[in-house]
Amino acid sequence: MAAKLMHAVQYERYGGGPDGLKHVEVPIPVPKKSEVLIRIEAVSINPVDWKIQKGEIKPIFPRKFPHIPGTDLAGEVVEVGPGVRNFATGDKVVAMLNHLYGGGLAEFAVVKESAMAKRPDELSAAETAALPVAALTALQALTQSAGIKLDGSSPQANILITAASGGVGHYAVQLAKLGNAHVTATCGARNIEFIKSLGADEVIDYRTPEGTALQSPSGKKYDAVIHCATGIPWSTFEPQLSSKGKVIDLTPGFGAMLTFAFKMLTLSNKRLVPLLMSFKAENLEYLLKLMKEGKLKTVVDSKYPLSRAEEAWARSISGHATGKIIVEP
Ligand SMILES: NC(=O)c1ccc[n+]([C@@H]2O[C@H](COP(=O)([O-])OP(=O)(O)OC[C@H]3O[C@@H](n4cnc5c(N)ncnc54)[C@H](OP(=O)(O)O)[C@@H]3O)[C@@H](O)[C@H]2O)c1
Repeated sequence: MAAKLMHAVQYERYGGGPDGLKHVEVPIPVPKKSEVLIRIEAVSINPVDWKIQKGEIKPIFPRKFPHIPGTDLAGEVVEVGPGVRNFATGDKVVAMLNHLYGGGLAEFAVVKESAMAKRPDELSAAETAALPVAALTALQALTQSAGIKLDGSSPQANILITAASGGVGHYAVQLAKLGNAHVTATCGARNIEFIKSLGADEVIDYRTPEGTALQSPSGKKYDAVIHCATGIPWSTFEPQLSSKGKVIDLTPGFGAMLTFAFKMLTLSNKRLVPLLMSFKAENLEYLLKLMKEGKLKTVVDSKYPLSRAEEAWARSISGHATGKIIVEP
């Protein structure tokens, strides 16, 4: 019997940007052991998706062409494979696919049951599809790398969040406030009031001299920087750090890796810490719980139907999203 087909968006080689994305009809994948088939309701775009297409992470990603990009999705379980224990047909879920294989820009995707969480009824597909890469990264940076306890039981830390208006940054501001931190944030002038509304104590326009120097308006030195922007050298951070301050770098380039090694070898108190998000289902469940309790929200920059996925792609490449970009099949 011929396999049933679905609409998907894929690319066949490195490069090409939005024009490299092609709309195709491909077979609906079949769930294997411990996997489920999800009918996708929303998928969010992350910068890593188009960085993979650009070849910035080759030869690790993608594993092979053609590649359907996108990893963060929300939808409904429509079929379960053998051995699935915790999910059933009809469950609303949030999931993260593996960057090696992608599969998100499509009507259906197969997901390992270990890579998903149940979605509370009161939360929408769009606001929860936005969570996996961006919010899990913000959570890991704050709790694991910066040592902030989100129940507010750690002593107040001074935290700087760069690019606070982006996907990761807007979650980091909210989570840092849950952790009782004093938050200084950088963003463009148009987003200052928005970032204050998320709870930031001080917000600086990154295009002003104070913003370029990352200077806290009240003269605070930072115990940790959740560095979501790119292209800021260590020499800019160092004078703004407290005696044991850390820069948690989400996009470490060659220079940052050299600084990381040098600071380690010289036993410096001030450190650069490269971060690579590692998925944990319990962390996704925790974020969904915070969202359900009204303690965390997703700000949606823009939504596109799957038929216009290339516009979502271009929007992310522009680097000017405020919050998250969503595609809805
Ligand atoms: N290591 C990991 O595991 C991991 C995980 C997730 C993300 N990342 C990386 O983290 C970075 C941030 O990701 P994201 O999803 O948050 O990006 P994003 O949503 O595309 O960020 C866009 C936002 O950044 C702001 N921005 C850009 N340059 C800035 C600067 N110098 N200072 C202040 N704000 C600035 C823009 O503001 P304007 O429009 O006003 O310019 C825009 O609102 C990316 O490089 C991504 O690849 C790494």
